[in-house]
Amino acid sequence: MLDTIKDIIQYISQYHESLVVSFILAILAGLTAVKTIPRLKQPFLNAKLSGIDILKPNKPILPETLGLPIAIIYLITMFLFIPVPFIDWFGGKFFFSVVHDEAPHLGTFPYHKLGEILSAILAIQSMVLLGFADDVLDVRWRYKVWFPAIAGIPLLIFYYTNFGVTYVVTPIQLRPWFGDMIHLGPLYYVYMLSLIIFCTHSINILAGINGIEAGQTLVISLSIIINDLLYIYKNPDQRSVEVHLFSLYFMLPFTGVTLALLYYNWYPAKVFVGDTFCYFAGMTIAVVGILGHFPKTLVLFFIPQMFNFLYSCPQLFRFVECPRHRMPRVLVDNKNDQSKVLLHCSVVTLNQERKPTGKLGRAMLEFLNVLGLLHVISRDDHGRISQCNNLTLLNLVLSYTGPIPENRLTCTVLLIQILCSLLAFYIRYSLVKFVY
Ligand code: UD1
Ligand code: MG
Repeated sequence: MLDTIKDIIQYISQYHESLVVSFILAILAGLTAVKTIPRLKQPFLNAKLSGIDILKPNKPILPETLGLPIAIIYLITMFLFIPVPFIDWFGGKFFFSVVHDEAPHLGTFPYHKLGEILSAILAIQSMVLLGFADDVLDVRWRYKVWFPAIAGIPLLIFYYTNFGVTYVVTPIQLRPWFGDMIHLGPLYYVYMLSLIIFCTHSINILAGINGIEAGQTLVISLSIIINDLLYIYKNPDQRSVEVHLFSLYFMLPFTGVTLALLYYNWYPAKVFVGDTFCYFAGMTIAVVGILGHFPKTLVLFFIPQMFNFLYSCPQLFRFVECPRHRMPRVLVDNKNDQSKVLLHCSVVTLNQERKPTGKLGRAMLEFLNVLGLLHVISRDDHGRISQCNNLTLLNLVLSYTGPIPENRLTCTVLLIQILCSLLAFYIRYSLVKFVY
């Protein structure tokens, strides 16, 4: 294991200097974020960019939207990095020489590669802008659900004009009927938009306890980095190396700034990340999955988010009442001893006169109950569910563990995320040969 890591490091420093630069920039970006966040706490509070830490007995007000400075530090890092992969075309003179359209030993300048990086940055930047608008204006879900699709347009336009690849490889079992490839045509763009919408919102709805948004993002980004390194090291094919290098250029600085944010958002949180961070994180990850051509592997790293989304559907699509906040609630044992403050699952009350739950909603809840995925608190005289847990992974974990402190819940969910990433690697590198 250690030998493999040593080999990978040696191989990268020998053949991929841009990656070394990216790694150094990632460390600098992370350190800048660590220094910047504490200085911005008061200005953010003054600007009323703040939120109540609902799960603490004394309900402190914390600065929110610290995802914004993080995203800005990341974008500046990426701006500075843009020339690095193309340094050979500057004849080594970097600052002073113009781009050579034809470098004798390198061929034509890869304008499409530059376009790829610029379109990715533009999509991420647009997402940050819309995420910030959401944090400031608290936009309603029916509108904000489309925000990632709007921010993703530059990316899709670039994809259309440069790749135009709209097929997916058919699983072996389906090949007798559909052939080796299925051409999706315009549906491929719908598939990519859905991926962008899913990545951004799925992080935002697995939220509400200290450290969970940044923590899950960190596990996903580290999983992507490990996958890229394995690919580059194991696969000498030029095209694969290129796309996974592209992914690393975006993921390394992203991981640096996320780590810094997690440091301040970890229990007991000093700042909140805000929707800006969730959108920024989801878009950055979706961008590398799409332009890195590994959307299926990417989805494998989102298993807990996928579960949380599917589990949430009855509430998200309003078959069952959906309160503004679905995060767990505090069960106060001792106000003076923070470690004795335990969380238990938050409850949704059905049969409300204003929003009665229909037959379909009830059927969904009964189905979840049969699967052991619902904590029924009470039933009415007719035996119908009248109170149950809010349909989130956090509440489900609590219904199995019983009341636990907030930091233990964060650690438990992050452990689930890590185990799911290991499962994803197993599927990607072992089980996949039975399907592709
Ligand atoms: C999403 C969830 C909502 C959840 C909320 C928590 C859906 C449909 N929406 O809404 O159920 O309650 O995220 O972020 O699933 N907060 C804390 N502690 C934390 C993090 C957040 O108390 O560690 C509170 C703060 O008051 C903060 C607020 O949550 O101001 C942020 O909520 P916001 O991000 O605006 O909620 P949504 O993303 O709309
Ligand atoms: Mg949010």
